[in-house]
Amino acid sequence: MSKKLLLKDANVEGIRHFEVYRKRGGYEALEKALKMTAEEILEEVKISGLRGRGGAGFPTGLKWSFLAKPEGVPRHLVVNADESEPGTFKDRYLMEFIPHLLIEGMLISSFCLGSNTSYIYIRGEYTWITDILEEAIEEARKEGFLGKNILGTGFDCEIYVQRGAGAYICGEETALLESLEGKRGNPRLKPPFPAVKGLWERPTVVNNVESIAAVVPIINITGEEYAKIGVGKSTGTKLISACGNINKPGVYEIDMTITVEEFIYSDEYCGGIPNGKRLKACIPGGSSVPILPANLLLKTINGEPRYMNYESLADGGFATGTMMGSGGFEVLDEDQCIVEHTMTLARFYAHESCGQCTPCREGTPWMYRILKKIEKGEGTLEDIDLLWDIQRKIEGNTICPLGDAAAWPVAAAIRHFRDEFEWHVKNPELSQTQNYGLANY
Ligand code: NAI
Ligand code: SF4
Repeated sequence: MSKKLLLKDANVEGIRHFEVYRKRGGYEALEKALKMTAEEILEEVKISGLRGRGGAGFPTGLKWSFLAKPEGVPRHLVVNADESEPGTFKDRYLMEFIPHLLIEGMLISSFCLGSNTSYIYIRGEYTWITDILEEAIEEARKEGFLGKNILGTGFDCEIYVQRGAGAYICGEETALLESLEGKRGNPRLKPPFPAVKGLWERPTVVNNVESIAAVVPIINITGEEYAKIGVGKSTGTKLISACGNINKPGVYEIDMTITVEEFIYSDEYCGGIPNGKRLKACIPGGSSVPILPANLLLKTINGEPRYMNYESLADGGFATGTMMGSGGFEVLDEDQCIVEHTMTLARFYAHESCGQCTPCREGTPWMYRILKKIEKGEGTLEDIDLLWDIQRKIEGNTICPLGDAAAWPVAAAIRHFRDEFEWHVKNPELSQTQNYGLANY
């Protein structure tokens, strides 16, 4: 059984409220942190090996150490709660059930980073969670844990919750900052990174909800103990939101030492695939990461079991591996059509492109149109090559990662399931009514 650090009290009645959270040891990490120096807290986070849980896996301690500290210029912490990656709903769970964990993590992080005004930028659709967070903020304020002179230490910190307006692109950190400043959420060119020029051109750390919540157990148990959980550079625990063709969809906390097979089939997690169907493929890290067929999902090309961690999932690069991403784990059984699935994702990215870069603005709808044609049985073999060509011209040629995120699913689908694309082309009369099936996988 995986160790639980974040969700250990998720099922405790009333944990959403300050009183119960406090009784379970809540805010003890903040009390401990306020007796430490900012440098000591940073050192703990660095030692813990915590990597950004939003998707990129960038080392959190390193990001914090990049924060510029010009004299007299305010700094900010911004929590990215604009969770919009298809298949990803772990931050929603954390904020909905244990809002004080995020607030406590933010207060510790704000103290370490020197932020007296910190923000939660939350996905617009999470209306009820905005209310939950605002209530928790008021509870913490009443108890003296937030606001002016926190616990008599002289540290002031305000937390504001700002709702987005339904644009996926506002989850990209610089688009988020633009939106938070009241402008249209267009991504900025990087560098400069937000750590140098962020919110209102001030040094800003943007971190995912889960990353900031993880700071609480790191301070509680120490960075050294946190780093002992997991394996290699995949330290600590990771929240996974599991969905698709599984018996037990939901949010699970894993310690990154379990195999993908265990995660899909064990009763502790997904509980297997309904109706005895066979596993066809899986997208393990949210819609932006490459899809893998069953054979490469359960084992790497070296015959090693595939583990639920950053390194093992990426083993083989994009040729035979994928990414941990945001932990949005989607399982597809033998009945699912890869062409249709890829088309659905392409439609999503085409709709969400902000339109600043030509390859993304023009390429994403073009890919969608071709996929739709193939799916309807009206495509040609040349269309498959054209699709490949378009995705290659998008990847790496855009301002923000949405372009890559749109290109990778198409590339991986063609790489691993080309036969299925060809089957649609060669069997136009069947492609609307039948499934290509499991042949060749
Ligand atoms: P990134 O790799 O560009 O950056 C990672 C972080 O490190 C950023 O905060 C960046 O500012 C910081 N950083 C990197 N180099 C730096 C330097 N030299 N100095 C200072 N800071 C530096 O990736 P990004 O754009 O933050 O995230 C992309 C990922 O987000 C994708 O892999 C995808 O999986 C995930 N994603 C997650 C979503 C969700 O709903 N959770 C939605 C969409 C994408
Ligand atoms: Fe906008 Fe797409 Fe360019 Fe990102 S890659 S800045 S979403 S056009």
